[in-house]
Amino acid sequence: MSEEESRSNVLKVAANGPLVCAGALQVSGRDGAVIQQGESFALCRCGASNNKPFCDGSHREAGFEDDGVWSDDKPVDDVAQGAVNFKLAANGPLLIEGPLVVQGADGEVRFAGERGALCRCGASTTKPWCDGSHKSAGFVA
Ligand code: FES
Repeated sequence: MSEEESRSNVLKVAANGPLVCAGALQVSGRDGAVIQQGESFALCRCGASNNKPFCDGSHREAGFEDDGVWSDDKPVDDVAQGAVNFKLAANGPLLIEGPLVVQGADGEVRFAGERGALCRCGASTTKPWCDGSHKSAGFVA
């Protein structure tokens, strides 16, 4: 296995900003069609980007505030190797499909696993995770 293949996929939650991802990454639509593949990109979590699902810097103008640090509420498991896909739920979260390590803005690993739903509307009270608030927020994407 090459060094590249043995590298974990890492998502860092930026304070007041996006989900900064590195590794073997893919984003797909709800129908499974691939939207983008790459080794690094920043996914919007404030809901304001004009280039969803990617961050375009609009979080600053929107005044998005979240410190990117949360209490440990998900198990930290051994994480497998391989690519991770972020599947876009219609008008809803980013669904993790594949191995991913999630770090807070302080660098602490708070999640390692293969399934989860990340907020991308900015309204969740359990950021970075989805709590269903996109429905009451009227998030459209
Ligand atoms: S997090 Fe940057 S535009 Fe939403």
